[in-house]
Amino acid sequence: MRNALLRTKPVDRILEEASDTKAGGLKRVLTALDLTAIGVGAIIGAGIFVLTGTAARDAAGPAIMLSYVFAGFACILAALCYTEFATRLPISGSAYTYAYASVGELFAWIIGWDLILEYTIGSSTVAVGWTHYLSEFVRGLQGSVLGIPLHGEDWNTHLIQPLIAWPVAGHSVNLAAAILVGLLSTLLCLGIKESARFNAVMVIIKLVVVLFVIFAGAAWVKPAHWHPFFPFGVQGVFAGAALIFFAYIGFDAVSTAAEEVKNPQRDLPIGIIASLVICTILYVAVAAVITGMVPYQQIDAGAPLAAAFGSVGNVLAQKLIGLGGFVGLTTVVLILLMSQPRIYYSMARDGLMMPWFGKVHPRFRTPLNATVLTGAIAALMASLVPMSDLHHMVSIGTLFAFVVVSASVLIMRYKTEENPSLSIMTVLQLALGLAVFCFGLAHDFHQPVLCLGKSWRVIDPLLSPVAGLALIQLLIMGLGAGVAAQPLVRLFSWKATNLPSGFKCPAVPLVPILAMGLNLYMMVNLNIDAWIRLVVWLVLGLVLYAAYGQKHSKLNS
Ligand code: ALA
Repeated sequence: MRNALLRTKPVDRILEEASDTKAGGLKRVLTALDLTAIGVGAIIGAGIFVLTGTAARDAAGPAIMLSYVFAGFACILAALCYTEFATRLPISGSAYTYAYASVGELFAWIIGWDLILEYTIGSSTVAVGWTHYLSEFVRGLQGSVLGIPLHGEDWNTHLIQPLIAWPVAGHSVNLAAAILVGLLSTLLCLGIKESARFNAVMVIIKLVVVLFVIFAGAAWVKPAHWHPFFPFGVQGVFAGAALIFFAYIGFDAVSTAAEEVKNPQRDLPIGIIASLVICTILYVAVAAVITGMVPYQQIDAGAPLAAAFGSVGNVLAQKLIGLGGFVGLTTVVLILLMSQPRIYYSMARDGLMMPWFGKVHPRFRTPLNATVLTGAIAALMASLVPMSDLHHMVSIGTLFAFVVVSASVLIMRYKTEENPSLSIMTVLQLALGLAVFCFGLAHDFHQPVLCLGKSWRVIDPLLSPVAGLALIQLLIMGLGAGVAAQPLVRLFSWKATNLPSGFKCPAVPLVPILAMGLNLYMMVNLNIDAWIRLVVWLVLGLVLYAAYGQKHSKLNS
Protein backbone atom coordinates (compact mmCIF):
# COMPACT_ATOMS: atom_id res chain seq x y z
CA MET A 1 0.00 0.00 0.00
CA ARG A 2 2.75 2.41 1.03
CA ASN A 3 4.55 1.62 -2.19
CA ALA A 4 1.42 2.23 -4.18
CA LEU A 5 1.02 5.71 -2.72
CA LEU A 6 4.64 6.75 -3.12
CA ARG A 7 5.39 5.02 -6.40
CA THR A 8 6.71 7.40 -9.01
CA LYS A 9 6.21 7.25 -12.70
CA PRO A 10 9.45 6.46 -14.53
CA VAL A 11 10.68 9.47 -16.43
CA ASP A 12 11.52 7.41 -19.52
CA ARG A 13 7.96 6.25 -19.68
CA ILE A 14 6.63 9.80 -19.32
CA LEU A 15 8.80 11.04 -22.16
CA GLU A 16 8.01 8.05 -24.33
CA GLU A 17 4.28 8.64 -24.02
CA ALA A 18 4.68 12.30 -24.86
CA SER A 19 6.70 11.64 -27.98
CA ASP A 20 4.10 9.20 -29.18
CA THR A 21 2.32 11.85 -31.22
CA LYS A 22 1.50 9.48 -34.07
CA ALA A 23 -0.79 7.57 -31.78
CA GLY A 24 -3.28 10.41 -31.81
CA GLY A 25 -1.61 12.65 -29.23
CA LEU A 26 -1.55 16.43 -29.08
CA LYS A 27 0.02 18.58 -31.83
CA ARG A 28 3.38 20.40 -31.34
CA VAL A 29 2.59 23.78 -32.84
CA LEU A 30 3.28 26.50 -30.23
CA THR A 31 6.26 28.90 -30.31
CA ALA A 32 7.94 31.02 -27.59
CA LEU A 33 5.86 34.00 -28.69
CA ASP A 34 2.63 31.98 -28.51
CA LEU A 35 3.63 30.84 -25.03
CA THR A 36 4.41 34.35 -23.81
CA ALA A 37 1.06 35.45 -25.20
CA ILE A 38 -0.65 32.52 -23.45
CA GLY A 39 1.12 33.50 -20.21
CA VAL A 40 0.23 37.18 -20.40
CA GLY A 41 -3.25 36.23 -21.58
CA ALA A 42 -3.78 34.09 -18.51
CA ILE A 43 -2.11 36.40 -16.02
CA ILE A 44 -3.49 39.89 -16.62
CA GLY A 45 -7.15 39.82 -15.69
CA ALA A 46 -9.52 40.20 -12.77
CA GLY A 47 -6.59 40.56 -10.37
CA ILE A 48 -5.33 43.86 -11.71
CA PHE A 49 -8.64 45.04 -13.21
CA VAL A 50 -10.78 44.33 -10.13
CA LEU A 51 -8.97 43.18 -6.97
CA THR A 52 -6.35 45.98 -6.89
CA GLY A 53 -9.15 48.26 -5.71
CA THR A 54 -10.10 46.39 -2.54
CA ALA A 55 -6.51 45.43 -1.78
CA ALA A 56 -5.26 49.03 -1.96
CA ARG A 57 -8.25 50.52 -0.18
CA ASP A 58 -8.67 48.04 2.65
CA ALA A 59 -5.39 46.18 3.08
CA ALA A 60 -2.23 47.92 1.91
CA GLY A 61 -2.84 51.54 0.81
CA PRO A 62 -0.22 52.90 -1.63
CA ALA A 63 2.10 50.12 -0.39
CA ILE A 64 0.03 47.83 -2.65
CA MET A 65 2.92 48.46 -5.06
CA LEU A 66 5.14 46.48 -2.68
CA SER A 67 2.44 43.79 -2.35
CA TYR A 68 2.74 43.33 -6.10
CA VAL A 69 6.52 43.17 -5.82
CA PHE A 70 6.32 40.60 -2.99
CA ALA A 71 3.74 38.37 -4.67
CA GLY A 72 5.55 38.71 -8.00
CA PHE A 73 8.83 37.71 -6.38
CA ALA A 74 7.26 34.64 -4.75
CA CYS A 75 5.73 33.68 -8.10
CA ILE A 76 9.01 34.14 -9.98
CA LEU A 77 10.70 31.78 -7.52
CA ALA A 78 7.95 29.21 -8.03
CA ALA A 79 8.14 29.84 -11.79
CA LEU A 80 11.85 28.95 -11.80
CA CYS A 81 10.91 25.60 -10.25
CA TYR A 82 8.07 25.12 -12.72
CA THR A 83 10.40 25.90 -15.57
CA GLU A 84 12.97 23.32 -14.54
CA PHE A 85 10.28 20.67 -14.57
CA ALA A 86 8.53 21.93 -17.65
CA THR A 87 11.70 21.77 -19.75
CA ARG A 88 12.88 18.46 -18.39
CA LEU A 89 9.43 16.92 -18.65
CA PRO A 90 7.77 18.83 -21.48
CA ILE A 91 4.56 16.97 -20.92
CA SER A 92 0.96 18.00 -20.71
CA GLY A 93 -0.14 17.96 -17.08
CA SER A 94 2.12 20.53 -15.42
CA ALA A 95 2.48 20.24 -11.65
CA TYR A 96 0.60 16.97 -11.67
CA THR A 97 3.16 15.24 -13.90
CA TYR A 98 6.08 16.79 -12.01
CA ALA A 99 4.78 15.44 -8.72
CA TYR A 100 4.20 12.03 -10.30
CA ALA A 101 7.79 11.83 -11.44
CA SER A 102 9.22 12.93 -8.11
CA VAL A 103 7.09 12.70 -4.97
CA GLY A 104 4.80 9.87 -5.93
CA GLU A 105 1.35 8.92 -7.11
CA LEU A 106 -0.65 10.05 -4.12
CA PHE A 107 0.84 13.54 -4.21
CA ALA A 108 0.40 13.67 -7.95
CA TRP A 109 -3.25 12.83 -7.54
CA ILE A 110 -3.66 15.47 -4.83
CA ILE A 111 -2.07 18.08 -7.06
CA GLY A 112 -4.10 17.09 -10.11
CA TRP A 113 -7.23 17.30 -8.02
CA ASP A 114 -6.11 20.59 -6.48
CA LEU A 115 -5.48 22.10 -9.90
CA ILE A 116 -9.20 21.77 -10.61
CA LEU A 117 -9.57 24.59 -8.08
CA GLU A 118 -7.13 26.73 -9.99
CA TYR A 119 -8.32 26.13 -13.50
CA THR A 120 -12.01 25.23 -13.41
CA ILE A 121 -13.01 27.38 -10.44
CA GLY A 122 -10.55 30.04 -11.63
CA SER A 123 -12.25 30.27 -15.01
CA SER A 124 -15.66 30.52 -13.29
CA THR A 125 -14.36 33.31 -11.05
CA VAL A 126 -13.03 35.38 -13.90
CA ALA A 127 -16.14 34.68 -16.01
CA VAL A 128 -18.26 36.23 -13.26
CA GLY A 129 -15.89 39.24 -13.08
CA TRP A 130 -16.13 39.48 -16.86
CA THR A 131 -19.90 39.99 -16.75
CA HIS A 132 -19.39 43.19 -14.75
CA TYR A 133 -17.05 44.48 -17.42
CA LEU A 134 -19.53 43.41 -20.09
CA SER A 135 -22.08 45.60 -18.41
CA GLU A 136 -19.55 48.46 -18.07
CA PHE A 137 -18.63 48.10 -21.75
CA VAL A 138 -22.22 48.06 -23.01
CA ARG A 139 -23.14 51.08 -20.88
CA GLY A 140 -20.32 53.01 -22.52
CA LEU A 141 -21.85 52.52 -26.01
CA GLN A 142 -23.40 55.96 -26.45
CA GLY A 143 -23.87 58.26 -29.44
CA SER A 144 -23.96 56.75 -32.95
CA VAL A 145 -21.78 54.71 -35.28
CA LEU A 146 -22.28 55.02 -39.10
CA GLY A 147 -25.56 56.77 -38.42
CA ILE A 148 -26.83 53.93 -36.19
CA PRO A 149 -27.81 55.28 -32.77
CA LEU A 150 -26.33 53.52 -29.74
CA HIS A 151 -28.35 53.21 -26.53
CA GLY A 152 -25.82 51.62 -24.17
CA GLU A 153 -27.69 52.45 -20.96
CA ASP A 154 -30.94 50.91 -22.26
CA TRP A 155 -29.22 47.85 -23.66
CA ASN A 156 -27.46 47.31 -20.39
CA THR A 157 -30.67 47.65 -18.37
CA HIS A 158 -32.92 45.56 -20.60
CA LEU A 159 -30.52 43.04 -22.11
CA ILE A 160 -27.34 42.58 -20.09
CA GLN A 161 -28.58 42.96 -16.52
CA PRO A 162 -31.34 40.34 -16.88
CA LEU A 163 -28.73 37.94 -18.31
CA ILE A 164 -26.39 38.56 -15.37
CA ALA A 165 -29.15 38.10 -12.81
CA TRP A 166 -31.65 35.71 -14.39
CA PRO A 167 -34.29 34.89 -11.78
CA VAL A 168 -34.75 31.14 -11.19
CA ALA A 169 -36.80 29.93 -8.24
CA GLY A 170 -35.96 32.94 -6.10
CA HIS A 171 -32.23 32.85 -6.97
CA SER A 172 -30.40 34.86 -9.56
CA VAL A 173 -28.43 32.89 -12.09
CA ASN A 174 -25.55 34.46 -14.04
CA LEU A 175 -26.47 33.29 -17.53
CA ALA A 176 -24.06 35.71 -19.20
CA ALA A 177 -21.06 34.07 -17.49
CA ALA A 178 -22.30 30.61 -18.50
CA ILE A 179 -22.73 31.71 -22.13
CA LEU A 180 -19.16 33.06 -22.22
CA VAL A 181 -17.77 29.80 -20.84
CA GLY A 182 -19.85 27.83 -23.38
CA LEU A 183 -18.57 29.84 -26.35
CA LEU A 184 -14.93 29.68 -25.30
CA SER A 185 -15.13 25.94 -24.63
CA THR A 186 -16.47 25.41 -28.13
CA LEU A 187 -13.52 27.35 -29.53
CA LEU A 188 -11.12 25.19 -27.51
CA CYS A 189 -12.67 22.02 -28.87
CA LEU A 190 -11.86 23.17 -32.41
CA GLY A 191 -8.08 23.39 -31.93
CA ILE A 192 -5.32 24.82 -29.77
CA LYS A 193 -3.60 26.76 -32.58
CA GLU A 194 -6.86 28.48 -33.45
CA SER A 195 -7.36 29.29 -29.76
CA ALA A 196 -3.79 30.62 -29.49
CA ARG A 197 -4.38 32.96 -32.48
CA PHE A 198 -7.61 34.28 -31.03
CA ASN A 199 -5.79 34.72 -27.74
CA ALA A 200 -2.89 36.66 -29.30
CA VAL A 201 -5.23 39.30 -30.76
CA MET A 202 -7.00 39.74 -27.43
CA VAL A 203 -3.71 39.93 -25.54
CA ILE A 204 -2.51 42.80 -27.73
CA ILE A 205 -5.69 44.78 -27.00
CA LYS A 206 -5.29 44.09 -23.28
CA LEU A 207 -1.64 45.16 -23.25
CA VAL A 208 -2.44 48.38 -25.09
CA VAL A 209 -5.04 49.23 -22.46
CA VAL A 210 -2.72 48.45 -19.54
CA LEU A 211 0.07 50.54 -21.10
CA PHE A 212 -2.43 53.30 -21.70
CA VAL A 213 -3.38 53.25 -18.00
CA ILE A 214 0.29 53.56 -17.06
CA PHE A 215 1.35 56.28 -19.50
CA ALA A 216 -1.85 58.34 -19.65
CA GLY A 217 -2.43 57.92 -15.91
CA ALA A 218 1.11 59.07 -15.05
CA ALA A 219 0.11 62.59 -16.06
CA TRP A 220 -2.56 62.68 -13.31
CA VAL A 221 -0.41 61.28 -10.53
CA LYS A 222 -0.07 63.45 -7.42
CA PRO A 223 2.83 62.18 -5.28
CA ALA A 224 1.02 63.56 -2.21
CA HIS A 225 -1.45 60.64 -2.59
CA TRP A 226 1.40 58.22 -1.79
CA HIS A 227 1.61 59.61 1.76
CA PRO A 228 1.22 57.87 4.11
CA PHE A 229 2.78 55.02 2.17
CA PHE A 230 2.03 52.33 4.79
CA PRO A 231 -1.36 53.33 6.25
CA PHE A 232 -1.89 49.73 7.42
CA GLY A 233 1.69 49.15 8.52
CA VAL A 234 4.15 46.81 6.89
CA GLN A 235 1.81 43.88 7.59
CA GLY A 236 -0.61 45.45 5.13
CA VAL A 237 1.87 44.66 2.38
CA PHE A 238 1.55 40.92 3.07
CA ALA A 239 -2.21 41.00 3.54
CA GLY A 240 -2.40 42.88 0.23
CA ALA A 241 -0.08 40.36 -1.39
CA ALA A 242 -2.33 37.46 -0.40
CA LEU A 243 -5.29 39.32 -1.89
CA ILE A 244 -3.68 40.26 -5.19
CA PHE A 245 -1.82 36.96 -5.57
CA PHE A 246 -4.79 36.04 -7.75
CA ALA A 247 -3.44 38.54 -10.30
CA TYR A 248 -0.39 36.34 -10.93
CA ILE A 249 -2.24 33.07 -11.34
CA GLY A 250 -1.92 31.75 -14.84
CA PHE A 251 1.80 31.69 -15.66
CA ASP A 252 1.77 28.00 -14.89
CA ALA A 253 -0.85 27.57 -17.59
CA VAL A 254 2.06 27.89 -20.01
CA SER A 255 3.51 24.68 -18.65
CA THR A 256 0.25 22.79 -19.16
CA ALA A 257 0.69 23.35 -22.89
CA ALA A 258 4.26 21.94 -22.79
CA GLU A 259 3.36 18.92 -24.88
CA GLU A 260 2.18 21.16 -27.68
CA VAL A 261 5.36 23.28 -27.87
CA LYS A 262 7.64 22.98 -30.92
CA ASN A 263 10.92 23.42 -29.04
CA PRO A 264 10.16 23.03 -25.34
CA GLN A 265 13.77 23.29 -24.06
CA ARG A 266 14.16 26.77 -25.47
CA ASP A 267 10.62 28.10 -25.68
CA LEU A 268 9.20 27.11 -22.30
CA PRO A 269 11.66 29.06 -20.11
CA ILE A 270 11.17 32.10 -22.35
CA GLY A 271 7.39 31.78 -22.25
CA ILE A 272 7.08 31.28 -18.48
CA ILE A 273 9.67 33.73 -17.21
CA ALA A 274 9.01 36.44 -19.82
CA SER A 275 5.27 36.49 -19.22
CA LEU A 276 5.73 36.71 -15.46
CA VAL A 277 8.39 39.41 -15.55
CA ILE A 278 6.37 41.49 -18.03
CA CYS A 279 3.28 41.25 -15.82
CA THR A 280 5.14 42.05 -12.59
CA ILE A 281 6.55 45.25 -14.10
CA LEU A 282 3.17 46.25 -15.51
CA TYR A 283 1.36 45.52 -12.23
CA VAL A 284 3.72 47.56 -10.10
CA ALA A 285 3.44 50.44 -12.56
CA VAL A 286 -0.38 50.25 -12.66
CA ALA A 287 -0.54 50.10 -8.85
CA ALA A 288 1.74 53.14 -8.60
CA VAL A 289 -0.37 55.10 -11.08
CA ILE A 290 -3.74 54.24 -9.55
CA THR A 291 -2.69 55.01 -5.98
CA GLY A 292 -1.08 58.19 -7.29
CA MET A 293 -4.24 59.28 -9.14
CA VAL A 294 -6.77 58.61 -6.39
CA PRO A 295 -6.35 58.81 -2.57
CA TYR A 296 -6.26 55.17 -1.48
CA GLN A 297 -9.45 55.47 0.61
CA GLN A 298 -11.40 56.50 -2.49
CA ILE A 299 -10.21 53.79 -4.88
CA ASP A 300 -13.16 52.01 -6.49
CA ALA A 301 -13.66 48.39 -5.44
CA GLY A 302 -15.42 47.19 -8.61
CA ALA A 303 -13.54 48.72 -11.56
CA PRO A 304 -10.63 50.64 -10.01
CA LEU A 305 -8.72 51.34 -13.21
CA ALA A 306 -11.65 52.68 -15.19
CA ALA A 307 -13.01 54.60 -12.20
CA ALA A 308 -9.66 56.32 -11.57
CA PHE A 309 -9.92 57.94 -15.00
CA GLY A 310 -13.58 58.73 -14.41
CA SER A 311 -12.59 60.51 -11.18
CA VAL A 312 -10.23 62.83 -13.04
CA GLY A 313 -12.96 63.55 -15.61
CA ASN A 314 -11.54 61.50 -18.52
CA VAL A 315 -14.68 59.64 -19.64
CA LEU A 316 -13.22 58.46 -22.95
CA ALA A 317 -10.33 56.77 -21.15
CA GLN A 318 -12.81 55.25 -18.73
CA LYS A 319 -14.68 53.66 -21.66
CA LEU A 320 -11.47 52.42 -23.25
CA ILE A 321 -10.43 50.73 -20.02
CA GLY A 322 -13.92 49.23 -19.71
CA LEU A 323 -13.32 47.67 -23.13
CA GLY A 324 -9.85 46.49 -22.03
CA GLY A 325 -11.29 44.77 -18.98
CA PHE A 326 -13.99 43.14 -21.08
CA VAL A 327 -11.46 41.81 -23.60
CA GLY A 328 -8.76 41.12 -21.01
CA LEU A 329 -10.89 38.92 -18.84
CA THR A 330 -12.08 36.94 -21.88
CA THR A 331 -8.54 35.74 -22.56
CA VAL A 332 -8.04 34.70 -18.95
CA VAL A 333 -11.16 32.55 -19.01
CA LEU A 334 -10.00 31.04 -22.32
CA ILE A 335 -6.55 30.04 -21.04
CA LEU A 336 -7.82 28.64 -17.76
CA LEU A 337 -10.41 26.60 -19.66
CA MET A 338 -7.65 25.38 -21.96
CA SER A 339 -5.42 24.21 -19.10
CA GLN A 340 -7.90 22.06 -17.19
CA PRO A 341 -8.63 19.42 -19.87
CA ARG A 342 -4.87 18.89 -20.30
CA ILE A 343 -4.61 17.92 -16.66
CA TYR A 344 -7.52 15.47 -17.02
CA TYR A 345 -5.92 14.17 -20.19
CA SER A 346 -2.67 13.38 -18.36
CA MET A 347 -4.44 11.80 -15.41
CA ALA A 348 -6.54 9.62 -17.67
CA ARG A 349 -3.44 8.57 -19.59
CA ASP A 350 -1.97 7.38 -16.30
CA GLY A 351 -5.12 5.45 -15.42
CA LEU A 352 -5.94 7.67 -12.44
CA MET A 353 -9.07 8.88 -14.18
CA MET A 354 -11.39 7.06 -16.53
CA PRO A 355 -10.10 6.68 -20.12
CA TRP A 356 -13.05 8.79 -21.26
CA PHE A 357 -11.26 11.92 -19.99
CA GLY A 358 -8.21 11.25 -22.13
CA LYS A 359 -9.92 10.81 -25.51
CA VAL A 360 -8.43 13.06 -28.20
CA HIS A 361 -10.70 14.00 -31.09
CA PRO A 362 -9.32 12.38 -34.28
CA ARG A 363 -9.73 15.46 -36.47
CA PHE A 364 -9.31 18.41 -34.08
CA ARG A 365 -6.58 16.65 -32.03
CA THR A 366 -7.91 18.23 -28.84
CA PRO A 367 -9.03 16.48 -25.63
CA LEU A 368 -12.68 16.89 -26.55
CA ASN A 369 -14.50 15.10 -23.72
CA ALA A 370 -12.41 16.74 -21.03
CA THR A 371 -12.90 20.16 -22.63
CA VAL A 372 -16.66 19.75 -22.76
CA LEU A 373 -16.81 18.55 -19.16
CA THR A 374 -14.62 21.42 -17.94
CA GLY A 375 -16.82 23.90 -19.76
CA ALA A 376 -19.97 22.41 -18.28
CA ILE A 377 -18.70 22.50 -14.68
CA ALA A 378 -17.20 25.98 -15.05
CA ALA A 379 -20.42 27.30 -16.59
CA LEU A 380 -22.47 25.82 -13.77
CA MET A 381 -20.23 27.30 -11.06
CA ALA A 382 -20.05 30.68 -12.80
CA SER A 383 -23.80 30.89 -13.13
CA LEU A 384 -24.57 29.95 -9.52
CA VAL A 385 -21.73 31.06 -7.20
CA PRO A 386 -20.71 34.69 -6.49
CA MET A 387 -17.18 35.80 -7.33
CA SER A 388 -16.16 36.57 -3.76
CA ASP A 389 -16.79 32.96 -2.69
CA LEU A 390 -14.65 31.59 -5.48
CA HIS A 391 -11.61 33.86 -5.43
CA HIS A 392 -9.91 32.75 -2.20
CA MET A 393 -10.47 29.12 -3.06
CA VAL A 394 -8.65 29.59 -6.33
CA SER A 395 -5.74 31.37 -4.65
CA ILE A 396 -5.25 28.79 -1.93
CA GLY A 397 -5.43 25.92 -4.41
CA THR A 398 -2.85 27.55 -6.65
CA LEU A 399 -0.49 28.46 -3.81
CA PHE A 400 -0.66 24.87 -2.65
CA ALA A 401 0.34 23.68 -6.13
CA PHE A 402 3.28 26.12 -6.15
CA VAL A 403 4.50 24.78 -2.81
CA VAL A 404 4.34 21.19 -4.02
CA VAL A 405 6.14 21.96 -7.28
CA SER A 406 8.92 23.77 -5.40
CA ALA A 407 9.21 20.81 -3.04
CA SER A 408 9.27 18.46 -6.02
CA VAL A 409 12.33 20.21 -7.47
CA LEU A 410 14.15 19.62 -4.21
CA ILE A 411 13.11 15.99 -4.17
CA MET A 412 14.19 15.52 -7.76
CA ARG A 413 17.62 16.83 -6.92
CA TYR A 414 17.89 14.80 -3.70
CA LYS A 415 16.48 11.63 -5.04
CA THR A 416 18.51 8.51 -5.58
CA GLU A 417 17.36 5.25 -7.04
CA GLU A 418 18.80 3.37 -4.05
CA ASN A 419 17.12 5.34 -1.33
CA PRO A 420 14.03 7.20 -2.48
CA SER A 421 12.16 7.07 0.82
CA LEU A 422 14.85 8.99 2.67
CA SER A 423 14.40 11.92 0.32
CA ILE A 424 10.66 11.84 0.77
CA MET A 425 11.02 11.90 4.53
CA THR A 426 13.42 14.80 4.25
CA VAL A 427 11.04 16.83 2.20
CA LEU A 428 8.03 15.98 4.35
CA GLN A 429 9.95 17.23 7.38
CA LEU A 430 11.01 20.26 5.45
CA ALA A 431 7.40 21.02 4.53
CA LEU A 432 6.27 20.50 8.10
CA GLY A 433 8.99 22.78 9.42
CA LEU A 434 8.05 25.43 6.88
CA ALA A 435 4.37 25.24 7.69
CA VAL A 436 4.84 25.58 11.41
CA PHE A 437 7.35 28.36 10.84
CA CYS A 438 4.88 30.27 8.70
CA PHE A 439 2.07 29.96 11.23
CA GLY A 440 4.43 31.21 13.91
CA LEU A 441 5.56 34.06 11.72
CA ALA A 442 1.97 34.98 11.00
CA HIS A 443 1.35 35.19 14.71
CA ASP A 444 4.47 37.15 15.53
CA PHE A 445 4.47 39.76 12.81
CA HIS A 446 1.10 39.80 11.24
CA GLN A 447 -1.62 41.85 12.84
CA PRO A 448 -4.86 40.90 11.15
CA VAL A 449 -6.04 43.22 8.44
CA LEU A 450 -9.57 42.60 7.16
CA CYS A 451 -10.51 39.08 8.14
CA LEU A 452 -7.18 37.79 6.96
CA GLY A 453 -5.24 36.01 9.61
CA LYS A 454 -7.81 36.77 12.28
CA SER A 455 -9.21 33.29 12.34
CA TRP A 456 -5.77 31.88 13.00
CA ARG A 457 -5.73 33.51 16.40
CA VAL A 458 -7.69 30.56 17.75
CA ILE A 459 -4.84 28.16 17.15
CA ASP A 460 -1.98 30.64 17.10
CA PRO A 461 -0.91 30.47 20.75
CA LEU A 462 -0.05 26.82 20.27
CA LEU A 463 2.09 27.51 17.29
CA SER A 464 4.02 30.64 18.07
CA PRO A 465 6.49 29.16 20.57
CA VAL A 466 7.40 26.44 18.13
CA ALA A 467 8.11 28.85 15.30
CA GLY A 468 11.74 29.31 16.26
CA LEU A 469 12.27 25.61 16.72
CA ALA A 470 10.57 24.94 13.45
CA LEU A 471 12.90 27.33 11.70
CA ILE A 472 15.87 25.47 13.11
CA GLN A 473 14.30 22.20 12.08
CA LEU A 474 13.75 23.61 8.65
CA LEU A 475 17.35 24.57 8.27
CA ILE A 476 18.66 21.34 9.70
CA MET A 477 16.36 19.06 7.78
CA GLY A 478 16.29 20.94 4.52
CA LEU A 479 19.85 22.05 4.22
CA GLY A 480 21.55 19.72 6.66
CA ALA A 481 20.15 16.22 6.72
CA GLY A 482 18.98 16.22 3.14
CA VAL A 483 22.30 17.32 1.77
CA ALA A 484 24.34 15.21 4.14
CA ALA A 485 22.39 12.12 3.19
CA GLN A 486 23.31 12.53 -0.45
CA PRO A 487 26.56 13.32 -2.14
CA LEU A 488 26.60 17.12 -2.22
CA VAL A 489 27.15 17.21 -5.94
CA ARG A 490 23.80 15.51 -6.54
CA LEU A 491 21.92 18.46 -5.17
CA PHE A 492 23.55 20.97 -7.46
CA SER A 493 23.58 18.90 -10.58
CA TRP A 494 20.94 16.88 -12.29
CA LYS A 495 23.33 14.55 -13.99
CA ALA A 496 22.74 12.09 -11.17
CA THR A 497 19.08 11.67 -12.09
CA ASN A 498 17.90 10.18 -15.33
CA LEU A 499 15.94 13.26 -16.39
CA PRO A 500 16.87 14.89 -19.66
CA SER A 501 18.65 18.20 -19.14
CA GLY A 502 16.86 21.47 -19.63
CA PHE A 503 16.49 24.77 -17.84
CA LYS A 504 18.10 24.56 -14.42
CA CYS A 505 16.52 26.29 -11.45
CA PRO A 506 19.32 28.49 -10.05
CA ALA A 507 20.55 28.51 -6.44
CA VAL A 508 19.04 25.17 -5.37
CA PRO A 509 18.15 24.55 -2.55
CA LEU A 510 17.71 28.24 -1.70
CA VAL A 511 15.23 29.13 -4.46
CA PRO A 512 12.85 26.16 -3.93
CA ILE A 513 12.95 26.60 -0.15
CA LEU A 514 12.26 30.33 -0.43
CA ALA A 515 9.50 29.63 -2.96
CA MET A 516 7.89 27.17 -0.55
CA GLY A 517 8.25 29.58 2.37
CA LEU A 518 6.89 32.69 0.67
CA ASN A 519 3.97 30.90 -0.98
CA LEU A 520 3.08 29.14 2.26
CA TYR A 521 3.23 32.48 3.98
CA MET A 522 0.68 33.86 1.54
CA MET A 523 -1.49 30.80 2.21
CA VAL A 524 -1.59 31.56 5.93
CA ASN A 525 -2.64 35.10 5.08
CA LEU A 526 -5.81 33.76 3.50
CA ASN A 527 -8.90 33.31 5.61
CA ILE A 528 -9.86 30.14 7.40
CA ASP A 529 -12.86 29.51 5.12
CA ALA A 530 -10.50 29.07 2.22
CA TRP A 531 -8.50 26.55 4.26
CA ILE A 532 -11.59 24.60 5.22
CA ARG A 533 -12.73 24.45 1.60
CA LEU A 534 -9.28 23.31 0.52
CA VAL A 535 -9.22 20.53 3.10
CA VAL A 536 -12.75 19.36 2.24
CA TRP A 537 -11.88 19.35 -1.43
CA LEU A 538 -8.68 17.38 -0.85
CA VAL A 539 -10.46 14.82 1.34
CA LEU A 540 -13.07 14.33 -1.39
CA GLY A 541 -10.22 13.82 -3.83
CA LEU A 542 -8.62 11.20 -1.60
CA VAL A 543 -11.85 9.25 -1.44
CA LEU A 544 -12.04 9.23 -5.23
CA TYR A 545 -8.40 8.19 -5.47
CA ALA A 546 -9.00 5.26 -3.14
CA ALA A 547 -12.15 4.27 -5.01
CA TYR A 548 -10.82 4.54 -8.53
CA GLY A 549 -7.35 5.97 -9.24
CA GLN A 550 -5.31 3.68 -7.08
CA LYS A 551 -6.95 0.57 -8.50
CA HIS A 552 -6.66 1.59 -12.14
CA SER A 553 -3.26 3.24 -12.13
CA LYS A 554 -1.21 2.11 -15.10
CA LEU A 555 1.69 1.63 -12.70
CA ASN A 556 -0.17 -1.37 -11.30
CA SER A 557 0.95 -3.40 -14.26
N1 ALA B 1 -4.41 36.13 -13.01
C1 ALA B 1 -5.72 35.98 -13.49
C2 ALA B 1 -6.54 37.17 -13.20
O1 ALA B 1 -6.09 38.08 -12.57
C3 ALA B 1 -6.36 34.75 -12.96
O2 ALA B 1 -7.68 37.23 -13.63
